[in-house]
Amino acid sequence: MCSTSSEPARRPETRPPEAERPTCPVARPGPGGVQRLDGRAVAAEPAALFERLRAEHGPVVPVLLEGDEPAWLVVGYHEVLHVARNPRRFSRDGRLWTAWREGRVGPQAPLAPVLAWGPDCAHQDGAEHQRLRAAVNESLGRFDRRGLRRLVRRHADRLIDDFAGEGHAELLSRYARRLPMLTLTEVLGLPPDEGPGLVEAGRRLLLGAEDAVANDRHIHRVLRATVERKHAAPGHDLASWLIAHPADLTDDEVVHQLRLVLVAANESTTNLVVNTLRVVLAHPPLRGSLFGGRITLAAAVEQVLWDEPPISVCPGGFATQDLELGGQRVHAGDVLLLGLAAANADPRIRPSPRASTHGNRSHLAFAGGPHECPGQDIGRAVAVTAIDALLGRLPDVRLAVEPEELTWSASTWARHLDALPVAFTARRPAPRAPAPAPPVPPAPRAAPPARPPRELHRRAARAGRAAFARLLGR
Ligand code: HEM
Repeated sequence: MCSTSSEPARRPETRPPEAERPTCPVARPGPGGVQRLDGRAVAAEPAALFERLRAEHGPVVPVLLEGDEPAWLVVGYHEVLHVARNPRRFSRDGRLWTAWREGRVGPQAPLAPVLAWGPDCAHQDGAEHQRLRAAVNESLGRFDRRGLRRLVRRHADRLIDDFAGEGHAELLSRYARRLPMLTLTEVLGLPPDEGPGLVEAGRRLLLGAEDAVANDRHIHRVLRATVERKHAAPGHDLASWLIAHPADLTDDEVVHQLRLVLVAANESTTNLVVNTLRVVLAHPPLRGSLFGGRITLAAAVEQVLWDEPPISVCPGGFATQDLELGGQRVHAGDVLLLGLAAANADPRIRPSPRASTHGNRSHLAFAGGPHECPGQDIGRAVAVTAIDALLGRLPDVRLAVEPEELTWSASTWARHLDALPVAFTARRPAPRAPAPAPPVPPAPRAAPPARPPRELHRRAARAGRAAFARLLGR
């Protein structure tokens, strides 16, 4: 059993030697009976884990991070919003973190790239945050949404062409992971030959992998060179627009905002695409409903943002003073984590997981408060376009395994599918789009999706309505 003490998880005296460390942290908690919040704990049954922790501790749960550093995981919906909306009590400045001040966590720690202070908007408060955030927001706002959708569609068509003739594919590695990567390479203004590698480095950084720090160095090197190049030859991209923004960012600040977008946008959008695809493919009647126009893809995506937010935990700040939160005594310098997935399932706002959320966008998948994700519309647009393209081009695409056979992995921050194998009728590639050149030319429209015969179509729509109604808890 985990500790039910209302005292915060203080640093344990000793760490168990490697050989004695539990292989399943869910079954065997860390020192002091405190839950370890590493990937293995979250990958298996996150909903059950969060519910058990909520039942034992209430809305604010003591947990252990990498290195058995104590932290508070906020799992209550209202408490997450309270932390996110009160930067004076919960600062984003990682230099306030007790573990950092006492030298237990340093720049080389796998968690450092996410939690340590840096000159990007995720780690600032107040006026400085507003200055950097305005530059990011306004620069992102310069992307024409239709142009962006065309860009995603063009990359989607090319990726689908690569496997359309094979009759089967593993969609995580060949589609859901590559599409945001290719899109981001252009959006950020990265060199096409380095972009995908760089985006992958950003993914590993978010995973808190052992090589997180080395990946971070590589990212900085390439981004610095990109910023130098954009000074000489600006383009239609985030790097150039950040340089030109009236907030007058230094080159170092531009590099850090680009790095932040790289890390924040990629894995999250990949997870949204693959999680939504899984839900749609695992519920064939829902497919019928989408074909029948009864449910929009946007609604399916929103449901996934409630049920399986692409980022399940995100940094929530460092307490600036001793305070009480959700019945726990939080000390100045303690780190708080926002349990977005757990908060979305908080029984106080969702008494039944089956309760309808249709048309309700008040989930916390993009967090809230001054740091709420500024790229959420782009993330949604990429996901909808990606799924629309795939279902349109491969209308009979189906899971190649039983849904129960799919497996998951997780880091402290996110949970993701290991693979999404599918089968479909092999078909010829769509006509190729002309070579890309910014601004992006419109891609030729793919052949319209094959529609099922009318009666089948009606039956599928009826069954789909019922299935999605169940999915939506109606
Ligand atoms: C479905 C995809 C996405 C999800 C689920 C997502 C989620 C999040 C979350 C949870 C945060 C943390 C908010 C906080 O610290 O309180 C965040 C921050 C951020 N996201 Fe996203 N994001 C997505 C896509 C994107 C995209 C496409 C971009 C940019 C192109 C982007 C840019 C950012 C930036 C710059 C921040 C930091 C904002 C700040 O600290 O002020 N995100 N995102």
